Amino acid sequence: MQPEEVLERARDFTAMVDAFGAVGLRHWRGRTARNRGNAWIKNIIEDVRDHKLKPQEGSPLHVVAWHRDLNGDLLDIKMATVELINLIRPTVAIAWYITYAALALHENPSYKSRILAGKEGLTEHFVQEVRRFYPFAPFTGARVRNEFEWRGHHFKEGTLVLLDIYGTLHDPVLWENPEEFLPERFRKWNGSAFDLIPQGGGDFMGGHRCAGEWITIEVIKQAVTFLANCMEYDVPAQDLSYSLVRMPTYPKSGFVMRNVSVIPQHSHKMNGLNSQAGKCPFHSV
Ligand code: HEM
Repeated sequence: MQPEEVLERARDFTAMVDAFGAVGLRHWRGRTARNRGNAWIKNIIEDVRDHKLKPQEGSPLHVVAWHRDLNGDLLDIKMATVELINLIRPTVAIAWYITYAALALHENPSYKSRILAGKEGLTEHFVQEVRRFYPFAPFTGARVRNEFEWRGHHFKEGTLVLLDIYGTLHDPVLWENPEEFLPERFRKWNGSAFDLIPQGGGDFMGGHRCAGEWITIEVIKQAVTFLANCMEYDVPAQDLSYSLVRMPTYPKSGFVMRNVSVIPQHSHKMNGLNSQAGKCPFHSV
């Protein structure tokens, strides 16, 4: 793929994520991007099935293109396209959390040096706190399918119910000093699957929890490692505030970096770090 096409495809998938919860222009921009994305992915799956493209076995494209149902039939092309887009789009959405992770390192610089020093478990705790502290979707909604009672409230069929994700993640009953960014809270955290709900709540099999949550955590961990261990950059003055009524939300300026460079491995050694701490796992310079 040519670099210009990479940029166009990236823009389209970003517009699809950005259209989540939107009305008006942003919604239509997302729909147009979705139509272009559908046509692109459909062609690719057809090329695989016509043996013009040979994706690596086990890759999402290979699995989806060649998946057979219980009758031994290939997935309908429309369904296969939707399945593949449903994997790519949320993977792109992780970029929102990576932006917040960069913001968190900027707002809490002491963590950058502690992560660089290789503090046990800190990267994982840092990522959990990023997902708790910063909003992606401040809330989500669903309609009641079967009426039920819960804590004295009656939920009639068809009622639109909103889950306050940001409120739950900042609830002082569930979290000590919720307005403080404190990755250490996850050192001994044993809260329930209904407390930490940035990607839905309940258990993975029976509840409303994101099937890609582990992937999301791992990808953000890699990004944080890269930001802390492998890069140097300046953060110029910009508007890093974010709205809590926009969905999905992110810093108004994005996260603009200047003077970006990759840290040569030997400079960690000069800074007195041992051979493992501070090592950038992405290069062997
Ligand atoms: C920014 C990152 C992400 C966020 C905020 C997010 C959020 C969510 C939420 C809120 C749900 C709905 C749960 C429900 O109501 O049932 C969901 C479902 C789902 N997500 Fe994610 N997600 C993210 C990343 C991913 C990734 C990276 C993948 C896979 C590559 C993924 C795959 C799925 C799937 C397959 C479902 C449907 C699960 C089911 O219905 O059983 N998500 N996600």
